[in-house]
Amino acid sequence: MKAPKEFPCMFTHVQISEMVTRIARSIEKQVPEEEEIVCIGVLKGAWIFHSDLVREIKRPVSIDFVKASSYGNQMISSGVVRIEKDIETDIQGKHVFLVEDIIDTGRTLKFLKARLSEGGAKSVSLVALLDKKVKREVDCDADLVGAVIEDKFVVGYGLDWAERYRTLPDIHFVPEDYAK
Ligand code: PRP
Repeated sequence: MKAPKEFPCMFTHVQISEMVTRIARSIEKQVPEEEEIVCIGVLKGAWIFHSDLVREIKRPVSIDFVKASSYGNQMISSGVVRIEKDIETDIQGKHVFLVEDIIDTGRTLKFLKARLSEGGAKSVSLVALLDKKVKREVDCDADLVGAVIEDKFVVGYGLDWAERYRTLPDIHFVPEDYAK
């Protein structure tokens, strides 16, 4: 699938791949060899990033997913986080990496980190491919970030606009005056 010509490219798949590699190397360094890594992808948006990241980590990795919603079909956050699918993995004593496509207000990651921290993990780290730092409304920062971006609505590489554009290989932004 191709992006509409009105959507400028923000990051090519090559640039994204460099971010994924850098984050994977950091995860490998952070966790001692004999200890376990669990990567939990936040559905749906993080599913492509998560699948690329876990394959780039040169160590055994357990995977799981959680589904939380904060947006619905709109461009603005509803401010309410709901759990729609929980993890099934026992995270006791393991190093958990919560993998997000984007951190915006910070509500989703803050909420999920608090929940996971109750599960007895040895550590819980937040990983976000994109960080819209200027939009933060709660005290929550990712430990590993691909790129900090300005306040633009982004689509592609898992990110959607009303469920469209998730399968674009690159990340694009939707111009403010684009209303289709
Ligand atoms: C998006 C994104 C994050 C969350 C970030 O998910 O994937 O999970 O919003 O926003 P926040 O920092 O303001 O909480 P969305 O609810 O759009 O669902 P999706 O991943 O299924 O697209």
